[in-house]
Amino acid sequence: MADAPKLVFGPFATPARGVLVVFCDDGLKFGPATRKMLGATADLVHRAAKTERFTGRSGSSLDLIHPEALKVARLTVVGLGKASEVAERDFVKLGGAAMGKVPAVAAEATIVAELATGAMDSEQAADLAQGAQLRAYAFERYKTKRKDDEKSPAKRTVTIAVGDPAGARRAYAAREAVNGGVLMARNLVNEPANILYPKEFARRAAAVKKAGLAVEVLDIKAMKKLGMNALLGVGQGSAHESRVVVMRWSGGRRGDAPVAFIGKGVCFDTGGISIKPASSMEDMKGDMAGAACVVGLMQALAARKAKVNAVGLIGIVENMPDGNAQRPGDIVQSMSGQTIEIINTDAEGRLVLADVIWYAARRFKPKFMVDLATLTGAIIVALGQEYAGMFANDDELAARLTKAGEKTGEKVWRMPLAPEYDKMIDSKFADMKNTGGSRWGGAITAAQFIKRFVDDDIPWAHLDIAGTGFDSRQNDVNRSWASGWGVRLLDRLVADFYER
Ligand code: BES
Ligand code: MN
Ligand code: ZN
Repeated sequence: MADAPKLVFGPFATPARGVLVVFCDDGLKFGPATRKMLGATADLVHRAAKTERFTGRSGSSLDLIHPEALKVARLTVVGLGKASEVAERDFVKLGGAAMGKVPAVAAEATIVAELATGAMDSEQAADLAQGAQLRAYAFERYKTKRKDDEKSPAKRTVTIAVGDPAGARRAYAAREAVNGGVLMARNLVNEPANILYPKEFARRAAAVKKAGLAVEVLDIKAMKKLGMNALLGVGQGSAHESRVVVMRWSGGRRGDAPVAFIGKGVCFDTGGISIKPASSMEDMKGDMAGAACVVGLMQALAARKAKVNAVGLIGIVENMPDGNAQRPGDIVQSMSGQTIEIINTDAEGRLVLADVIWYAARRFKPKFMVDLATLTGAIIVALGQEYAGMFANDDELAARLTKAGEKTGEKVWRMPLAPEYDKMIDSKFADMKNTGGSRWGGAITAAQFIKRFVDDDIPWAHLDIAGTGFDSRQNDVNRSWASGWGVRLLDRLVADFYER
C-alpha cells in the first residue's frame, strides 16, 4: 500500500519538478511569483487557454503536458473565478481540488499558494495544505493487486510553495493535528466488521493514549454493574462482547466542567431479529461513524493541545440475530431506570446512546453534550447527504454548531423536537418504545427518544449523520467511502467557543 504523500512547505523560488499546480483568476491573471516561475510558458498557457476555452472560471482547469521551457512533467492551471470573490473562497476545498489534479502516480508535485493578487497569507496557505492532505487519503489496506498504471511510487512529496514557509508551517501545525483525527476516523469507518469488532475498536480507540489522553474501557461486567441494559441488550446476540470507551483530555483549567462528545458505535448493524434486507447491508459496517468521529476528535484535541477539558464516550456493539438475540416485545431497563419496550431491534442506535449519554451526564456533569450517530434512514430522506440533522435543547449550542458547520463545510440543519412527537413513543407496557411505529418523522422520533435520557439543564445536541458519515457524494476533500465527518466541525466548535 502506498503511503500518503508527504506535505512540505517551501519558498516560491524552489524549482518545481513533477506536477506543477498554479492558480489564475478569471482574467487568466497569475500572481507575480507564478509569472516568474512560468516565464515564457505563460504565453503558451494563454494560447492553450484559447484553444481549450479555459477562462479561469472557478472549478475549471487546464493541463499542459511537458511544457517545453519548464522542468515539469505536467503543468495544471486551476481557475479561481472572479478576482473580487477569491477572498471568500474556502481554501480547504481549493486545496482539495488542487490535490485532485495530482495523479496518484506522481512522485513529486508542487502547488503554488499564490492568488492573482499575490501570495496567500499563512492561514490561507495552511488551509490549502489541509485540504490537499485530506484529499490525498485513500483506504487501500486490502488492495493486493495493482495494474502498472495504478501503482503509486513508494514515496510521494507534495510541496506547497508559499511566501512565508515558516509562517505557513506554524499555521499548519494545528490543522495537521485535526487532519490526523479525520483520517483516523476514516480508517475506522472504512475497516470491515470482521476486523473491527467491538473489542478491536476499543483497542484502536485506546491508542489515543499516546497523544496524552486518559482512556478507560468498560467491559460487560462493568456495564452490567452500572445497569446499562439498553446497550447490553443490543449486543447480546453477537459473538463479540460489547464495550464502552471513555477518553479524557484535560487541556483546560483544573476543575472546569468538561465538554462531552458521545458516539454511536455499532460495528455492524444487521438489524438483529428485525433483520435488514440484503441490498446495501454491507454499508452497515459504517454504523460506527459517530463513535469513529468521537475518537478522531479526541485525538485531534490532544494532538493540537486544545485548551479545553473534553470527554469522549463511545458505546460499541454489534447488532446480530442469534439464539440469544433480543426480540421485539422484550422490555429492558436502561441505566436511567426508565424501561423500554423493543418494537424493532433495528432501532438499536438509540438504545446504545440512551445508556452512554446517561452515564456521561451523571459522571462528568458536562458543560454541554453533543452526540453523533448514523441513526436513521429517515434523516437521509429529509436532508440527503449534504447536511447532517441537528436536534438541540439549547438555541445557543445549536447556533454555534450551525456557525462551525458553515465555516468547515460540515453543515448541520436544525430539525424540531416537540412534545407532540414525543407522544409517538409512549408504550402500552413500558415507559417508552424504541420506535415511533410510523416511518413519518422517523429521525425526529429517534431524537425524541434520546431526549428522554438527557437532563433539560444540560445543553445537548444530537447529530444524525446517517447521510454524511459515509458514502456521501465524493467531494473536493474526500474521495474515500468514509468521510470522517464531524471531526473538523466539532474541533471548530471547541476552538471558537470553548477554549479559554
Ligand atoms: N443504522 C441504521 C440507520 C442507517 C441507515 C444509517 C442507512 C446509515 C444508512 C439504524 O440503526 C436503523 O436501522 N434505523 C432504522 C430505524 C427504524 C427501524 C425505526 C431506519 O432508519 O430504518
Ligand atoms: Mn439499525
Ligand atoms: Zn444502526
